[in-house]
Amino acid sequence: MADVTLTTLRGLKQNGEKIVMLTCYDATFAAAACAAGVEVLLIGDSLGNVLQGHDSTLPVSVADMAYHTACVKRGNQGALILADLPFMSYATLEQALDSSAALMRAGAHMVKLEGGAWLADSVRRLAENGIPACVHLGLTPQSVNVFGGYKVQGRDAARAREMREAALALEQAGAAMLLLECVPSALAAEISRSVRIPVIGIGAGVDTDGQVLVLHDMLGLNPRPAKFVRNFMAGQASIQDALAAYTQAVKTAQFPAPEHGFSA
Ligand code: KIV
Ligand code: NA
Repeated sequence: MADVTLTTLRGLKQNGEKIVMLTCYDATFAAAACAAGVEVLLIGDSLGNVLQGHDSTLPVSVADMAYHTACVKRGNQGALILADLPFMSYATLEQALDSSAALMRAGAHMVKLEGGAWLADSVRRLAENGIPACVHLGLTPQSVNVFGGYKVQGRDAARAREMREAALALEQAGAAMLLLECVPSALAAEISRSVRIPVIGIGAGVDTDGQVLVLHDMLGLNPRPAKFVRNFMAGQASIQDALAAYTQAVKTAQFPAPEHGFSA
């Protein structure tokens, strides 16, 4: 497989081919995911939960993210590496630039920030400095304490409108990609159609330009999986087969099924 770049991802969207993203935190799984055809490896700050055992992503540091990004880079075989900027590492423009530089030096090709239209300035400055940015909208887990729990976002008209406008403003500011978490499927479909940049979904229905899941969730290791998770280990003989089944299901739009999504 030729190296996946931003150009590859834009081309997939234009051709209506689904983009396959999966979280990844180490070299062994990076190689396995690449062998299964995963196109984007996300070093998610979900590592705070699944690797470190915290009950949220808030304790994760830039150094933690850089360490796991470097591990993934060593096992990567052509995927695009996307790394999360952790909690409070991009509160100011200076912080966003410094934190992103650390992740890019560790091997990331793109960074991800959680928020909304207010990130436009940061996204623009990052792009000007050679750093593509993906903005995570909807249920942004770093804001769990503001939301008062992990809840579907965009069910009310005001919040749905805010998200639609944020998508357009962030594309305008030079965002390379968007990620929608736990938003009604119809809203996610509408946002995906409204921008030219790829939109990846998790708990956002089948009509986004691609899908992402947390590795440990899709391998059936989470005793309390969210509604949007499918256990791809079920019926498979190996982890390698489960990863291939995930890629295949995303590419053929058989995952997510309607029951994995949320209504408005
Ligand atoms: O940290 C993470 O794993 C993520 C995905 C759930 C999108 O941000
Ligand atoms: Na994350």
